[in-house]
Amino acid sequence: MPESQNIEQKELALQLFEQQFKRSAELVCHAPGRVNLIGDHTDYNDGFVLPAAINYGTTIAVSAREDNVVKVYAHDCEQQTNEFSLTEIVFDQQMMWSNYVKGTLQALMKKHPEIKGANLVVTGNVPQGAGLSSSASFEIAILKAFTQLYQLDLDGVNAALIGQQAENDFVGCNCGIMDQLISAMGQQGHAMLLDCKDLSFEDAPIPDDLMLFIVNSNVKRGLVDSAYNLRRQQCEAVAKYFGVSALREVTMAQLNAAEDKIEPELFKRARHVVSENTRAVNTLKALKANDMATISAEMKASHVSLRDDFEVTTKEMDGLVEMIDSVLGTKGGVRMTGGGFGGCVVALVPTALVEQVKDVVNSNYEKEFGLKPSIYLCNASQGAFR
Ligand code: GLA
Repeated sequence: MPESQNIEQKELALQLFEQQFKRSAELVCHAPGRVNLIGDHTDYNDGFVLPAAINYGTTIAVSAREDNVVKVYAHDCEQQTNEFSLTEIVFDQQMMWSNYVKGTLQALMKKHPEIKGANLVVTGNVPQGAGLSSSASFEIAILKAFTQLYQLDLDGVNAALIGQQAENDFVGCNCGIMDQLISAMGQQGHAMLLDCKDLSFEDAPIPDDLMLFIVNSNVKRGLVDSAYNLRRQQCEAVAKYFGVSALREVTMAQLNAAEDKIEPELFKRARHVVSENTRAVNTLKALKANDMATISAEMKASHVSLRDDFEVTTKEMDGLVEMIDSVLGTKGGVRMTGGGFGGCVVALVPTALVEQVKDVVNSNYEKEFGLKPSIYLCNASQGAFR
């Protein structure tokens, strides 16, 4: 299913390109969204994350132009078209989606000023605003398209840094590197332990009989960027207190010893980050050893920490985690995933329990919270630059 979905998306993009531009595209490329198994709000603290790329993503059909104009047709953003010149890139308050293209190309031009314009058709199936990195997959797809089109010497790690720069400097979200890096460098069938301090990573196979079971709570997320940026500032304030560059350098013993000198809310934020780093590393080891009981316990502890210490879950996400956990017990793991404040929960579910987990979600979530859940059964997919 995943591969054929990709092929269908590519065919659609090529067809739409012909309709929009009355000629064939030169090439088509795809970048995946991602789900994070564990290690949330650790990336911008130089910590550890354990994401996987998923079989939902963004596809771009593209052709080069000889001038500096970039013309983009976004099929899934109300079929809007945006046109701008690479020599005059300005933030767009109306077509917010176009800022991802503009920001990404502005950042790309700092390293590759030689690029020219292009015609692009974009289509994707990562649910937007759900915490599955629709924006990172968009940025990485753009970078892949320009890399191929203009034969740039750009590898996946540098593409990820450029995508992150677009978000930080142009879009206005101070996100870390996780989403862009896994979209660029994910490995099919594997999760990736990424050390966000030096960007080294290790792939770990996800056992064949485990599904990435994702449920979107469909809670509308409001003011996400400002709440996210505030969490980041709080973490940086604690790092500053310890005189280090990031919370990665602080141990739990050091943190605990300073408890009465740090504001309680900031202490809790830091406790989440320091403990989450250990959980991410433990989960990698457990995944390699196929030790489901440990994975289960670590994912549970991660959710509790994001709920109580980092305070980024919602009652709907907490409810979903409880429901799914009641079926899985120690046979699988479940937690919120991504930035939080709404969005998705992720579960590692043995194939034999998939139907039961679906049933519990479908029969209880809407009844309890008045929202329809969306379920995505995913496989770990290949990154765009891998
Ligand atoms: C968002 C950001 C990431 C990361 C997660 C939380 O997805 O884009 O960089 O910080 O939130 O883990």
